[in-house]
Amino acid sequence: MFDPQNLIRAHIKDMPAYEPILPFEVLSRQLGRQPEDLVKLDANENPYGLLPAVRQALAELEYPHIYPDPGSQDLRAALAVRHNLPAENLLAGAGADELIDLILRLVIEPGDVILNCPPTFGMYRFDGDLNGGRVVDVYRNSDFSLDVDAIVQVAGAYKPKLLFLASPNNPDGSLIPIPVIERLLELPLLVVLDEAYMEFAPPGSSLIERVPQFNNLVVLRTFSKWAGLAGLRVGYGAFPGSLVEHLWKIKQPYNVSVAASVAAVVSLQHTAELDAVGQRLLAERQRLYALLQSVPYLKPYPTQSNFILCRVEGREASLLKKQLAEAGVLVRYFNKPGLKNCIRISVGKPEHTDRLIEVLRSIL
Ligand SMILES: Cc1ncc(COP(=O)(O)O)c(C=O)c1O
Repeated sequence: MFDPQNLIRAHIKDMPAYEPILPFEVLSRQLGRQPEDLVKLDANENPYGLLPAVRQALAELEYPHIYPDPGSQDLRAALAVRHNLPAENLLAGAGADELIDLILRLVIEPGDVILNCPPTFGMYRFDGDLNGGRVVDVYRNSDFSLDVDAIVQVAGAYKPKLLFLASPNNPDGSLIPIPVIERLLELPLLVVLDEAYMEFAPPGSSLIERVPQFNNLVVLRTFSKWAGLAGLRVGYGAFPGSLVEHLWKIKQPYNVSVAASVAAVVSLQHTAELDAVGQRLLAERQRLYALLQSVPYLKPYPTQSNFILCRVEGREASLLKKQLAEAGVLVRYFNKPGLKNCIRISVGKPEHTDRLIEVLRSIL
């Protein structure tokens, strides 16, 4: 008998589903609490949300009934100024996520090797698997620094086409030192450097402006974190010119919506305000870190991002996550190699920190 399941590509049949973080309204239904009663510290979103000017621009959108500009020209022109790069090297996407998938679609033939350095962002493996690639893991050291010798060795043995690196890395928030990235750029592969959280790191930590100096460096950025546009889905990448013309051929023409594009452009017209929000988050990160250190069963890791990874000691992190959720505080839980018994807490507003700490202390 005809069974449409038999049509499914074999490598997709075997793939585990990606487990996304749930949005407010779904969580609120699940937990029986109003969305405003939830402290959502599980997906590294910006708790301050849209700038007022962005909200206003969205309310006044003139042409939402017309398809967006496939070339995202206004956005790319603004980004070119921000990063001192030719607009020709820039491509926008429906989040950095779309660009990760596009890069893989561009270069991966079935079985091609992709080098991944976990613990890290899950989409590199997810999209690698989805595109029929063979994802080879080189685990980070216990302090989350890269095992550079192992990467070099594996690169020699497996001849990967791509190396994914996140700096700051999700879920621990560590930066990759620039000399390390420069060393890895000497390998005969494409380095995809994901700088989704770079706006929370000290100035001078990014390589985006140097993309034109290399022929094998891609840098990805997003408006989801720093600019508070996670729900609108807009990100971008800086690419070598030799790749960008082919990416144009394969991207969906209307990948960045009118709303996302306007929100991103208006955000870039108000970077001083966004930087001020960023400074508030950095100050709160410092306060949150010190408070987490005072919780006897948590060991927070140093971070250069808008979240703090904590090892949970002497109790089950899964239970802790559940207890926090019951109190309306949402954090991310991990229990996998390199991330045994951990939770990750996004930096929120001061009142979010207060509520989190109150709950953490109450379950001593
Ligand atoms: C390292 C990293 N890269 C990319 C993304 C996704 O960014 P976007 O929302 O632009 O798709 C995330 C989101 O959590 C992330 O942690």
